[in-house]
Amino acid sequence: MPDQVQHDKYKNTFMNYLSQQNPTDFSGKHIIVRVDFNVPLEDGVVSESEAFRIHAVVPTVQFLKNAGAKIILLSHIGRSGDSLQPVADYLEKNLPELGVVFSPDGAINGDCVLLENVRKNPGEESNDSTYAHELAGLGDYFVNDAFAVSHRAHASVVGIAGLLPSYAGFLLESEIKNLDQALQPESPSVLIMAGIKFETKLPLIEKLLPVYDTVILGGGLLNTYLKSFGLNIGKSVIDSSADLSTITGSPKLVIPEKVIIEREGLVQIVTTSQVQENDIIVDVVIDDNMKELLGSAKTVVWNGPLGWYEKGYTQSTIDIVTNLGAQTHSIVGGGDTVTVIRKEHSEDKISFLSTGGGAMLEYLQNGTLVGIDALK
Ligand code: 3PG
Ligand code: MG
Repeated sequence: MPDQVQHDKYKNTFMNYLSQQNPTDFSGKHIIVRVDFNVPLEDGVVSESEAFRIHAVVPTVQFLKNAGAKIILLSHIGRSGDSLQPVADYLEKNLPELGVVFSPDGAINGDCVLLENVRKNPGEESNDSTYAHELAGLGDYFVNDAFAVSHRAHASVVGIAGLLPSYAGFLLESEIKNLDQALQPESPSVLIMAGIKFETKLPLIEKLLPVYDTVILGGGLLNTYLKSFGLNIGKSVIDSSADLSTITGSPKLVIPEKVIIEREGLVQIVTTSQVQENDIIVDVVIDDNMKELLGSAKTVVWNGPLGWYEKGYTQSTIDIVTNLGAQTHSIVGGGDTVTVIRKEHSEDKISFLSTGGGAMLEYLQNGTLVGIDALK
């Protein structure tokens, strides 16, 4: 794989990891740290099960604090009108040791300051150079620890990195290292792709099908696949625009034989050929063959929930997690997938939970992201 080798060489030569720096270099300096605190709110509050992205940046913030740096945290949340106040409240209550002070007016009024939602400035999303200079003017160095937004060419991700000496934070580094492993999986390997839209996932399945030993489909992707064989999928969710001819019939694809359906308000298990007009497929049955594949796998990479988890259909998720082998290196990503795993209190059973949704898929597709290239 000459491309991959060259890619790795390029990365190792030019990437500055914060973990490899001498902490004393940062003493007394102002360090701008881009984080991704874009977390969903419930009744205006960050819930513990959604706070995973916030906790993920603690190692970088602690490293810089211990180094005696002054930290300026930049993040977006939701849309331009939304405020980071709920995140600031969460930090104060749950991570008081970081001493984060919220500064909605942009004043640098503490040793660890969180500024307001960068997307309030229209220059953020347009990667406006004036806004990037304004941000860069706040500090001496830039650290990107926001893997989940590093697929966006925004001012606080890309523009600023061209204006200051820049580093990849601890979270970004572990995302890169784990996802590079996902691109070169140790065999036997299993890729699980689920969720609803084939648009971004089909090119990725096409790319990874030659690299993985097994690919398991679930969720709306599976329904779409079943329908392409003329099977009745009732009223189940599908991606009607998908053309699956490039993957159809691959011997590596493992398709569940049984699914869980809702039929007239009742939950039943049926084979995929027994689904009727008014049924809704709500989850898949993880059968013995799949359990064996998962148990003996050295690498499992998983993106997208297999069941309709919002309605409580999480059995497939539980079955996958509990059947991972002791030797399995498991990498899971996609916001919803991680949410389900955390709600089931199963995060300890996964080797690496990616904070990225779209960013994880794009990294696997392209082997890098614009925000990462900007650091090189
Ligand atoms: C995400 O949650 O996917 C990232 O924070 C990026 O957010 P965006 O999709 O609104 O750009
Ligand atoms: Mg998104």
